[in-house]
Amino acid sequence: MLKGKNIIVGITGSIAAYKAAYLVRGLIKKGCDVQVVMTPSGKEFITPVTLSALTGKPVVSEFFTANTGSWNSHVDLGLWADALVIAPASASTIGKMANGIADNMMITTYLSAKAPVFVAPAMDLDMFAHPSTQRNLQTLRSYGNHIIEPTSGELASHLIGKGRMEEPEVIIEYLENFFAQKETLKKKILITAGPTHEKLDPVRFIGNYSSGKMGFALAEECANRGAEVTLIAGPVSVKTIHPNIKRIDVESAREMHDAALSCFEDQDAAILCAAVADYRPENIADMKLKRSGETMNINLVPNPDIAAALGQIKKDAQTLVGFALETNDEESNALGKMERKNLDFIVLNSLQDKGAGFRVDTNKITILNRNGDKKEFALKLKSEVASDIIDELVKVSDNK
Ligand code: PMT
Repeated sequence: MLKGKNIIVGITGSIAAYKAAYLVRGLIKKGCDVQVVMTPSGKEFITPVTLSALTGKPVVSEFFTANTGSWNSHVDLGLWADALVIAPASASTIGKMANGIADNMMITTYLSAKAPVFVAPAMDLDMFAHPSTQRNLQTLRSYGNHIIEPTSGELASHLIGKGRMEEPEVIIEYLENFFAQKETLKKKILITAGPTHEKLDPVRFIGNYSSGKMGFALAEECANRGAEVTLIAGPVSVKTIHPNIKRIDVESAREMHDAALSCFEDQDAAILCAAVADYRPENIADMKLKRSGETMNINLVPNPDIAAALGQIKKDAQTLVGFALETNDEESNALGKMERKNLDFIVLNSLQDKGAGFRVDTNKITILNRNGDKKEFALKLKSEVASDIIDELVKVSDNK
């Protein structure tokens, strides 16, 4: 799976830099073509000579090669790579990556790379636990970067053992799994994400707390597995970078409905993760509504139900997945929605579960299936929840 892959290994200033030599050797053994890129402080911890001896090529660390003055193109490097693995990734480099501070060859390569990025943090526990580091790591996750850590899969609140760089053989196994999965989802998938905003006047709207994180994690997961994704997003600040994700930004439920219906026909599946407003103000005021001191009544009219509309026109071969965000009578409400909207399965998340639902980086789901199956999952990162949902989607659509 890794044979013939072009891998950039980025090495930064950390005591764990020696492990990078094992990583490079392991990747070469698997048949990869490896190019090492080092930050200036990376060279304080391991010599470029060791690494170039392993790869058979000069290590890149400066914009210019000192003796010839020739230019090292970070753009060409970024295009050449099938993967960029930054191991060890120091707190400083992680901060620069999160904020686009391109003051060395490795960061410019990162910013130019079109390939998936894997980051193995290495620092002491206090640095790792600092909110600044955690926020930067979260930013990298939201860019679709893969963070590989020893306790990956557990949550950031359980910080014991964190900060230590993951072992080279585990990083290699992670890459193997990634490439094994990558080309398996040869499907066109439509995803709705985020909230909708229903205008009241030029300055106000009715909305909800959806951040788009769950839907965007699903889009990244599908794209990483090789799917062609159309992501219809309500107003959110999350970003997508994967080239296989075509993003359509909308504001209101009606816009989301029209966008979803216009592209559903040739999709293999649709996952409806958006928190769509069920009602909208009957009238939108042209001018800002003024305070009058009196009680104000706003007439609301129903919005179209996107899931139900797709459920009506869905062909047998198409898989339709819905979400149910509940606060009470969770299972029976979710089952009712699955039935009414003609969904193949529904993903239930409840606001009764701490760490689940809106805005947070984690979710706790139960998948309810048409054949009566019920699968409960632990609280996980939304990226991991997305993977569980896509595993189920693959199973259900393979059985059609
Ligand atoms: O965006 P995050 O902050 O990460 O939060 C994620 C989430 C909590 C929004 C997400 O996990 C979730 O539960 N999304 C669905 C929320 C919701 O509105 O559920 P619902 O029970 O109201 O709707 C049921 C299903 O019908 C959903 O698939 C919804 O997308 C769909 N629907 C609802 C109304 C409507 N007019 N059109 C629809 O398509």
